[in-house]
Amino acid sequence: MVDVVEMSDTKDIPDAKGIPFVGNTFEMGKDPAAFFVRCYKEYGPVYRVNVFGRKQYVIAGAEAAKFMSTKAGREGLRSKEFWDDFVNHFGASKTLTQIDGEDHRRMRAIMRAGFSREAAEGQYHKISQYIDESIERDWEIDGETGVLEAFQYMIVQVIGELMSGEAPLEYVKDIRINILFLLNTLVARVKPKWYLKSPKFKKASKRVDELGEKTVARFMKHAEDGTLPKNLLGDIMRAHFDDPEFVQKRDLAVLLTGPYVAGLDTVANTVSGAVYGILKTPGVLEKVQAEADALYAKGTVTSMDVRNLHYIQGCIKESMRLWPVAVGQMRTTTKEIEFEGYKIPAEEMLIIGTSVPHYLEEYFPNPLAYDPERYNDDRKEHMKPGAYSPFGRGPHTCLGQNLAEVLMGMLISRLFHRRHLTLESPNYELKTKAFPTPGPAMSFKVKVVGERNPATQLTPEVLEDA
Ligand code: HEM
Repeated sequence: MVDVVEMSDTKDIPDAKGIPFVGNTFEMGKDPAAFFVRCYKEYGPVYRVNVFGRKQYVIAGAEAAKFMSTKAGREGLRSKEFWDDFVNHFGASKTLTQIDGEDHRRMRAIMRAGFSREAAEGQYHKISQYIDESIERDWEIDGETGVLEAFQYMIVQVIGELMSGEAPLEYVKDIRINILFLLNTLVARVKPKWYLKSPKFKKASKRVDELGEKTVARFMKHAEDGTLPKNLLGDIMRAHFDDPEFVQKRDLAVLLTGPYVAGLDTVANTVSGAVYGILKTPGVLEKVQAEADALYAKGTVTSMDVRNLHYIQGCIKESMRLWPVAVGQMRTTTKEIEFEGYKIPAEEMLIIGTSVPHYLEEYFPNPLAYDPERYNDDRKEHMKPGAYSPFGRGPHTCLGQNLAEVLMGMLISRLFHRRHLTLESPNYELKTKAFPTPGPAMSFKVKVVGERNPATQLTPEVLEDA
């Protein structure tokens, strides 16, 4: 429960013990999810951490997750500061992640349809074709595949085609390096800014700028020709022409390449974690294969079919629980906040440890076990209030959540329908990384031991209003 307390009732906020000077930097950098859980168990729902000598407040647990959606949370927290440097780096005036209040609501409304599940409606036959192309290219039979990288290509192909009508595969590496450096230095701030001087980053950054410029030019041409498509990028361009002060010309490059920043690492990490869980946990693979085969036996696939992949969706949810891509949300307090009997002053950096309950026995019994059946109707462990927040909470909650769920359902079902995969060895233990997006390490590989089913084409869905 979120308490409102009298001044005299407030409790002292403990500092998490760390090493002199660097404080908690290394422990938090190594495994942020485990660090926040340890501190929660040791200090309770509110504590302070020290990262590179900078103190940050943390509120954690189910109550903290719920707090983000309350009036006090919505009004008392803003995102701006954590994203300012990122926005300035691109010479833009704003991004969706960096604005709050009325401007944020307005920008979300512009982007809602393009990021929604409906954006994929009627396109599942094409999506499965893009996935097949990616499977033929990167999941070669009798070979080994680097899982994370192969999924990065797969998702860029799918998101690119869906949202912009083109898949910039030759830029995937650059996008990834760009995200890695920018998020680590300018947003999470776990690396010093001089990292951005590295030639590797500069090269990738130049290429991503080039992709941005090309995409803007392509959509400007569409606008001139009156052929702006009905997709996210088309909507952003229309909003720019409707109100060039709000969606400024200098914002277009970062907005038009935004879906890759939002979708590439998040989806790739989640489905990679799911692949590991599926192959590692006895009894899971067979159920995934059976569900996937039943889906593609239908010949036509709809959004509802993908949402109804209960077992596979459980595998994906379980990956997001164990390896959440956003361990916590970073905010600044706009005013003094009262939470669970503690007061956090205004204008302080605050991390909301929304993933902490993912690892607590009271919400998810045997929390470290990969168990896709937790989400079944008779258990629904994730439905306990505040227990499960892989897509964040509050006003900035993931705008692509529903779309991500169907895309990930397609990626996993199609891959396991088409290919017979195994881990490198049955004893293989997943190595993880913490930044820029926590999840399986780039070194995670699987063996592609055979083809299960050929690439038969799906029949397009007939939409009612088509
Ligand atoms: C496994 C998949 C994904 C996960 C776990 C995920 C998670 C998140 C989280 C936790 C946030 C909130 C960050 C915060 O509050 O600071 C967020 C924001 C966002 N996500 Fe996702 N995301 C996923 C995939 C996607 C995809 C595929 C897209 C679209 C292509 C997308 C679009 C967005 C956007 C636009 C925001 C910003 C919302 C705002 O600031 O108002 N996400 N996502």
